[in-house]
Amino acid sequence: MKVLVIGSGGREHAICWKLSQSPKLTKLYAAPGNAGIEEVAQLVDIPAKDQEGLLKYCKKEGINLVVVGPEAPLTEGIVDRLRGEGIKIFGPTKFAAQLEGSKVFAKEMMKKLSIPTGEFEVFTSAEKAMDYVAKKGIPIVIKVDGLAGGKGVVVATSMPKAMEAIHLDMVKKVFGKAGDRVVIEECLEGEEASVIAITDGITVQLLASSQDHKRIFEGDKGPNTGGMGAYSPTPAITPEVEKEILDRVFTPIVKEFKALGHPFKGFLYAGIMMTKNGFRVLEFNVRLGDPETQAILPRLENDLLELILAAAEERLNEITLEWKNEDCVCVVIAAEGYPDTYETGKKISGISIAKENPAIQVFHAGTIRMNGEFHTAGGRVLNVVGSGRSIFEALSKTYHAVDQIFFEKMYFRKDIGHRAAKVLK
Ligand code: AMP
Ligand code: GLY
Repeated sequence: MKVLVIGSGGREHAICWKLSQSPKLTKLYAAPGNAGIEEVAQLVDIPAKDQEGLLKYCKKEGINLVVVGPEAPLTEGIVDRLRGEGIKIFGPTKFAAQLEGSKVFAKEMMKKLSIPTGEFEVFTSAEKAMDYVAKKGIPIVIKVDGLAGGKGVVVATSMPKAMEAIHLDMVKKVFGKAGDRVVIEECLEGEEASVIAITDGITVQLLASSQDHKRIFEGDKGPNTGGMGAYSPTPAITPEVEKEILDRVFTPIVKEFKALGHPFKGFLYAGIMMTKNGFRVLEFNVRLGDPETQAILPRLENDLLELILAAAEERLNEITLEWKNEDCVCVVIAAEGYPDTYETGKKISGISIAKENPAIQVFHAGTIRMNGEFHTAGGRVLNVVGSGRSIFEALSKTYHAVDQIFFEKMYFRKDIGHRAAKVLK
């Protein structure tokens, strides 16, 4: 089979690495991919948002299956466009992708299906939103409705911060139309975890649980990032909670989309907060998580191509997911200054030494190859991933590998997995 993966981050490198192990694969392509992905796939120089370019390429090359990594092409309707032309593509349609593309859509669906989530109100007027916040008090959470590159949520711990967020979103329109509506939500407390499912629109199966580390600094301090590391599985999600999340979140959502005449096919990610009153859904993503995927896929025993194909062909019920009885850790190496400004073009050394240990993978996020050597080309640069028989062994192998890698002004968190390590001590 000829398979094309759309995207260019660490998640897509992990997807390509896993797909490349499938005996069913004849050729792997990635659009646009990155310098690490190039080691397992042919790079195609077409941006993820260029639907017509991708469509033409799929037809010309006779691509048998397209797998979409990031959310933007999904919310822009790439699945509808390619499927409409007879190309097999795995992911939700534009309608189903609203679950991530619109927080209002997601919150209203959760309310309709009685899915546990924070109390909320939706506003189209800044004045009314401010009145509501003044009445409710702080802390409170302000979310723009549309996609905002992970920056559209403010957890306000002071009244001026809450008012400022509403002003920036709705009056200044810093996120453009994404801020036409805002969701104002009760502030929840607890440990966060990620639960990701794969569905063919009828059957739902959960992948192994994981936990991201969103803040830039150790101890979960500082601004939010795209994710500084992850590990799988997480003790925050017990088997009982997992079953509850399947029964009360994923099964009703998949049934609802089917009933609406728009079956949800793809990966579906629920961001969960474990509060003292039980779990709450913070958000949905209509794709695999980044960096969660990098820590989940190395644990998957199944052939990923077979799994995705089964889901794309509505026979996911034929598959039994199997997981290695190992812990897996992903440490993100970033450029100092990220998520604000940072330098690029730094020469990277030590990747091949780090990879000498068979328990280690290095997935690239922001790299380019120049004169045969890797250089930094983004804020999040590399994902170092290691497996072990316990979280401690996985952490020790992963951080040892991180120590082999060097570029000027590299930064990484030294406390990935700290929560799990504490619980299991
Ligand atoms: P979201 O994009 O909705 O997941 O929000 C991004 C981050 O904001 C989450 O990972 C949480 O850390 C935080 N967050 C979102 N909603 C809430 C909430 N209701 N209470 C507290 N923190 C929240
Ligand atoms: N790790 C969070 C996300 O993928 O959105």
